[in-house]
Order: sequence, then C-alpha cells, then structure tokens
Amino acid sequence: MRIAIGADHGGFEQKQQLAAYLTNELNCEVEDMGCFSTESVDYPDYAAPVAHAVAEGRADAGVLVCGTGIGMAIAADKVPGVRASSITTPAFAELFRQHNNGNVVCLSGRFVDLDTNKAIVRTFLETPFEGGRHEGRIAKICAIEAEAEEA
Ligand code: RB5
Repeated sequence: MRIAIGADHGGFEQKQQLAAYLTNELNCEVEDMGCFSTESVDYPDYAAPVAHAVAEGRADAGVLVCGTGIGMAIAADKVPGVRASSITTPAFAELFRQHNNGNVVCLSGRFVDLDTNKAIVRTFLETPFEGGRHEGRIAKICAIEAEAEEA
C-alpha cells in the first residue's frame, strides 16, 4: 500500500516514528512529504501535498500529524475527493473507515501517545469500508463537492 505522510513541527517527531512503523512493520511504501525538522512551519503547506497525492491516486491513503490533528483535517478536507478527520482513538479509526470511507487520517502529535497513534494507523489501514447504507451518504458528500466546484 502506498502511503503519503506529512506533518508540521507539532507532529514531526511522531511522523518520523510512524513513517518507520509503516515501512518496517506494515510493509507500506511511504512517501514522506515533510516537514523535516521541528522548526515552526504552517500545517496547510503539508496537508495539501498529502491530500492531492490521495485525491489524484498517487497514494492509496494519507497520514497527517500536527499538534492536535485538527488543522491538518480542516486543510486536507478542502481537496475534493479527500475525506480527512482528526482521529484520537482506534475505535474512531475503525468507524472512520467503515462508515465514512476515510482516506486521510489526521493525528495529534501532542495529545495522543505514539503507541495509540500506531494502533490508529494500523486500524485505519486494515479496516474496509462497509458500503451498503453508507454509499449513498458518501455520494451526498461528493455532491456537495461538485456543487462547490460549479459555484
Ligand atoms: C501549531 O502550533 C499547531 O497549531 C498545529 O500543530 C495544529 O495543532 C493545528 O491544528
């Protein structure tokens, strides 16, 4: 599985650990889109390339890490085709996949420990979309995107 990963300074340390986890333990092909130090940066600059990689099919899924995960989710969700959310528990990661067909998971590097974030990432990647009654709801999200693009 091809994973695009990114972080700001608030998520840099965990991003390094999660990229290694994805590569070495989950056998993923990881494209690291920065940042590459703890120097202060702006999270939308890292959310955008990861979101575009997923929306354009260059990555199968995205992982973003900032202080809370919230800013990354807000920014990534601006890209049509992306369904991003801030996720803080494995249970929410499971529902994010089953019900929302989420494709970019956004993590907190400051308020959630590394082991929990590893479990979230693993659950996110291993849980399939349930389809069924959720298909129509995703279609309605796509319709909102299409309306916004037409406006
Ligand atoms: C950076 O200080 C912080 O605002 C950022 O990492 C993130 O938490 C934003 O949502």
